[in-house]
Amino acid sequence: MVSALPRVLVLNGPNLGRLGVREPEIYGHASMADLKVSAAQWGKELGLEVDVRQTDDESEIVGWLHEAVDAGAHVVLNPAAFTHYSYALRDAAAQVTTADLLLVEVHLSNPATRESFRHYSVVAGVATGTVAGFGFDSYRLALTAIAERLASKPQA
Ligand code: DQA
Repeated sequence: MVSALPRVLVLNGPNLGRLGVREPEIYGHASMADLKVSAAQWGKELGLEVDVRQTDDESEIVGWLHEAVDAGAHVVLNPAAFTHYSYALRDAAAQVTTADLLLVEVHLSNPATRESFRHYSVVAGVATGTVAGFGFDSYRLALTAIAERLASKPQA
């Protein structure tokens, strides 16, 4: 049977596949596999069909954003370093929100408290909103925001 639940693609950019071993003092000790398990549980609790993906490849994540538009899926996006310079990603993210789909930008860390090159997000201006600084909880909060927005504004 086809799921009638709203779909959310949880898309993660470069180096996030290294979670758990990469700078654990900043990003924590849990892995991308752990995030997939947690996100599946949050999706169940929130009534969302959640699909977590990670890539180091800009063209792949741009393609996934196109897929979200074509499938009518909402997006939680951790663009990782692409946040700070990828106009291609921004342009793809803009297509999601102009299609009236929700796109929440998330970060594990709070980039505003870190090196100055992390202070600017080229994606933020086309996102529905941003959650940063809460580790894995940034994703849970983003999914909760999507579920609550959808509940308050039933989709056509
Ligand atoms: C990050 C913050 C980015 O500046 C960095 O390049 C990342 C991870 C975060 O989740 O805190 O790779 O997006």
